Amino acid sequence: MPAKITAARQNFAALRTPLLCPVCNEPLKLAENSFRCPAGHCFDLSAKNYLNLAPHLKAPALYDERLFAARRAVFDAGFYAPLAEALVKQAQALQQRLGRPITVLDAGCGEGYFAAEVLAALDGETCEMLAVDLAKPGLLLAARRAREMKCLLADLARLPVPDNSLDIILNVLSPANYQEFRRVLRPGGLLLKVAPGAAYLQEVRQAFNIAPGEKSEAERLLAAAAGEYSTTTLHYTRPVTPEQRENLLAMSPLAGHHTAREADFTEVTIDLQMFVATF
Ligand SMILES: C[S@@+](CC[C@H](N)C(=O)[O-])C[C@H]1O[C@@H](n2cnc3c(N)ncnc32)[C@H](O)[C@@H]1O
Ligand SMILES: [Zn+2]
Repeated sequence: MPAKITAARQNFAALRTPLLCPVCNEPLKLAENSFRCPAGHCFDLSAKNYLNLAPHLKAPALYDERLFAARRAVFDAGFYAPLAEALVKQAQALQQRLGRPITVLDAGCGEGYFAAEVLAALDGETCEMLAVDLAKPGLLLAARRAREMKCLLADLARLPVPDNSLDIILNVLSPANYQEFRRVLRPGGLLLKVAPGAAYLQEVRQAFNIAPGEKSEAERLLAAAAGEYSTTTLHYTRPVTPEQRENLLAMSPLAGHHTAREADFTEVTIDLQMFVATF
């Protein structure tokens, strides 16, 4: 245990981005194994390599261990590799353009696949990765996936970082708060927002007897909030083994609301829209 908390402290001691107290907004300082603000609000670092900055907030319903384990299995099988590559390309291009280390925050990181892929492609020298989620079961997995990631249990609508402190926000299949994203992004910083297209996981929707997806609201809301944005569609199908089918059925919060009928699909449709936006 002492070795683990030491490793967690070393990881967070290397943080370049200042963290702000969620109670009074003043800067937090790391002393021993806790972050404290000048007013004395104190947040203990976990030996599990994450920092809980929202001890009184409730996690979003339906996001449990089973869901995140299923997401991890699906991601690790490569179903979303084209999306990870597209995000990595954007991050690499911005880092090369700026010619300095960049700060990236994944708002709604879940079990951490996309944040970890970006970090692995850029490495810790050129990229500081903050991974934020309110669901502890996801964050615990993220904190183990990439030990140098700074995993923060926090609300993405109230990010614990200063104005103009981030170069990229990742926001993959998670709720957005554009006002907050605008506050924390540096001028010229990018929001990489990913939303489901109409055919996204249509085989899973059918198994749950849910009507086909409609065009998500994401683009309308983003268009109203962003300065400029571009859209890329990633639409493909992949074959599915019976075990992968179980994980695809369990990876979505739909699974908590609906009972699947006997599902026998043998391929799955991934239909995603990636928005690259500036504010
Ligand atoms: C469908 S999951 C996507 C997670 C991850 N990006 C992925 O693709 O696996 C949505 C995530 O948003 C998180 N979330 C929802 N509301 C949030 C909030 N207000 N603050 C932080 N995270 C939130 C959930 O806990 C969940 O992990
Ligand atoms: Zn405080």
